[in-house]
Amino acid sequence: MDYRDLYRQSLDDPDQFWGEVASGIDWSRPWDQVLDDSQAPYYQWFSGGELNTCYNALDRHCESGRGEQAALIYDSPVTVQVKTFTYFELRDQVARFAGALRMQGVNQGDRVIIYMPMIPQAVIAMLACARIGAIHSLVFGGFAPQELATRIQDAGAKLVVSASCGIEGKRVIPYLPLLEEALELAGSIEIPRIVFSRPQLPVEDPHPATVLWHDAISTAEAVDCVEVSATDPLYILYTSGTTGQPKGVVRPNGGHAVALKWSMDHIYNVQPGDVYWAASDIGWVVGHSYIVYAPLLHGCTTILYEGKPVGTPDCGAFWRVIEQHKVKCLFTAPTAFRAIRREDPTGELLHQYDISSLDTLFLAGERCDPDTLHWAETQLDVPVIDHWWQTETGWPMAANPMGIEVMEVKPGSPTVAMPGYDVRVLDDEGVELPRGQYGNILVKLPLPPGNLSTLWGDQQRFHDAYLSRFEGYYLTGDAGVLDEEGYLWVMSRIDDVINVAGHRLSTGALEEALASHEHVAECAVIGVEDQLKGEMPLGFVVLNAGTQTDGKELKNVLVQQVRSLVGAIATPRDILIVDRLPKTRSGKILRGTMRAIADGKPYEMPATIEDPAVLDEIAAVLS
Ligand code: COA
Ligand code: AMP
Repeated sequence: MDYRDLYRQSLDDPDQFWGEVASGIDWSRPWDQVLDDSQAPYYQWFSGGELNTCYNALDRHCESGRGEQAALIYDSPVTVQVKTFTYFELRDQVARFAGALRMQGVNQGDRVIIYMPMIPQAVIAMLACARIGAIHSLVFGGFAPQELATRIQDAGAKLVVSASCGIEGKRVIPYLPLLEEALELAGSIEIPRIVFSRPQLPVEDPHPATVLWHDAISTAEAVDCVEVSATDPLYILYTSGTTGQPKGVVRPNGGHAVALKWSMDHIYNVQPGDVYWAASDIGWVVGHSYIVYAPLLHGCTTILYEGKPVGTPDCGAFWRVIEQHKVKCLFTAPTAFRAIRREDPTGELLHQYDISSLDTLFLAGERCDPDTLHWAETQLDVPVIDHWWQTETGWPMAANPMGIEVMEVKPGSPTVAMPGYDVRVLDDEGVELPRGQYGNILVKLPLPPGNLSTLWGDQQRFHDAYLSRFEGYYLTGDAGVLDEEGYLWVMSRIDDVINVAGHRLSTGALEEALASHEHVAECAVIGVEDQLKGEMPLGFVVLNAGTQTDGKELKNVLVQQVRSLVGAIATPRDILIVDRLPKTRSGKILRGTMRAIADGKPYEMPATIEDPAVLDEIAAVLS
C-alpha cells in the first residue's frame, strides 16, 4: 500500500486503522472503544483497555524467544566501557528494581522523579515504574536545581531516583548537591531518594532519607507487571512553554505503546532484532520514545550512548559506535552533525570506519538546514531524513515514511504528515490557507494515539495552551507552509520558545532569571541564529536608574545567573545593556523585530511601535 492510501484511511476511519495497529501490542483486557470522543475536545484512545508497557517492552520478548538477544547496549566513552543487557537480564533487573520501589512505598499512580545521567540504571528505573504502574518524570541532568525543584513540586513526587554524578566530557558533575538544593527549594527534603553510587564519585555522607541503589535491590524481590488502564499515565515529561512554568506533558500508556511500535517499522523501517540508535538524552522526549520505549516495544537492540558527537574522544565517535554495534538506523539532531562537520569537514575520520550497516539517518529536534542535510548525505551515502515532532506528540507528525513508501527528499522539508495527523495551515483568523501560503501549523483534532492527553494537574492550561486558539485544532506553536504536493515546511515558532542545540527553551524562563538580579529593571531574551546550535539566547537588559556598575562584570554575573537558575544548556551568547526596549504602544516587547535586526534580516516597522528610534539604538548595540 502506498503512503497516500494509508494516510487517507487513518483519517477517514481512525477506529479501523488504529484498532488494527493496536493488535501489535499485548493487552490484558481489550478496549471498549478505539477512539473515545465522549469528552471532546479531550479525546482518549483505547478506553476500557488494560495493558502494561513494561510487559510489552520486555517480558513478552522473553516469552517469545528473544530473551538472549541484546536489548540494551550501554556504550560510554566517558567511562570507557561497553555493557550489553539481554532482554532476560534487563527484565530481571527491572523486576528487581520495581520491587525496590515498592519497598520504598511507591505504588500505582505515584510519581517518581528520575534525575539521572545516561546510565542503564536510568532506563531500569523508568521501566520499573512502568512495571508497577507508577508514573515517572525524568529531569534532564543539565537543568539547575530551581528547574528540578519546580518539577518535583508540580509532579507531587513520592520518591526521587538519582545518581552520584554525571560525566560531561572529562568533567564529573556531582548530582547530589543539585538534588539536595532542589529538594530544599521544593519543600520536599524528607522524601526518600534511591541513589546510584558511581565509581567516579562514590556517595559519601548522604542525606538520611537516602537508600543506595545496591542496598535497595539487595533486599528487594522481583515483582510482576501490574495491569494499568490504557488511559493511565505512563509518564509526565516537562517541556518549555511560553512562561517560566514548565508544562507537564502527560503520556497515556495504551496509545503510546501502539503508536511507538507502529512507527518503528513504518517510519524508521527497522525490524525486531535490528540495532537502533537514538543519540539523544533520556531527559528529552527523543530519549523517552526512541532510546527506551519504541525500540524495546519493537524487539530491537537499543543503544544508550553516554558521550558527545565530538570530544569523546573525537569527532569519529558516532562512526565508531555504528561500526562496533552494527547500527542500522541512527537518529540525532542536526546540531550534532554540524558539530562533527566543523571538526572534520571532509569526513577523514568517517572513512576510517566501516559504517555499511547503516541504512538511514533521521534528524529532528530543530529544522535541518539543507546544507547540513547535503553534507550528511554525501558523507554517509544513505538517505538522510528530516522529520518533525515535539514533546507533546511523542512521535513524528511529519516524516518520510521509509517503511511505507520512500518519498522524494526535499531538503528543508520534513516531508509529509504521518497517519493520524491531519495537518493544516491556517491564517490568524482561523481560515485555511491555500497551498503554498505561510501560516500557523495546526493539527485537526483528534490527535492520533501516543500524543499527550492533558497537562499534569492542569486541564485548563492544556485547553488554553493548545486547544483554545483555533477551535477543533491542536496548536503546534510552529508556523510554515504546506506545498502543492502536501510537503510541509516548518519555518519558525509563533511563540517565545527557542531551540538551542535541539533543546527547547522558554525565553520567559531566561527572562525570569535575568529579572531576578537587583540591578535589572527590565529585560528581553530572544533566540538568534547560531551556526552550530541553530539558535542561541541573547539577552537585553535595562538597568535600574542610577545603577553604577562595571558593565563587563555585570554581564558575567548575569550569564552566571542564567546558568545557575535555568542550567548550563541555556547559557546566553551575550547580555547587552541597553537604555530601553522596543515596545508597542500597549507595552508589548517587539522580540520578533529585535530578532530580525540581530540576524541581519529585513523587517517591517511595526505599525504599533511606541518609538521607532529605539530600533536604531538596538541596532547600534548589536553592531
Ligand atoms: N548534564 C550537565 N550539564 C550538561 C548536560 C547534562 N546532561 N548536557 C549539557 N550540559 C552542559 C554542558 O556541559 C555545557 O556546559 P558548559 O557551558 O559549562 O561547557 C552546557 O550544558 C552546554 O551544553 P551543550 O548545549 O551540549 O553544548 P556543547 O558546546 O557542550 O556541545 C554539541 C555542543 C552540539 C556537541 C551538543 O549540543 C550536542 O551533542 N548536541 C546534540 C543535541 C541533541 O542530542 N539533542 C537532543 C534532541 S534530538
Ligand atoms: P521539543 O518538544 O523539544 O522536541 O521541540 C519541538 C519543537 O522543535 C517543534 O515544535 C519545532 O519548533 C522544533 N522542531 C522539531 N523538529 C523539527 C524539524 N524537523 N523541523 C523544524 N522544527 C523542528
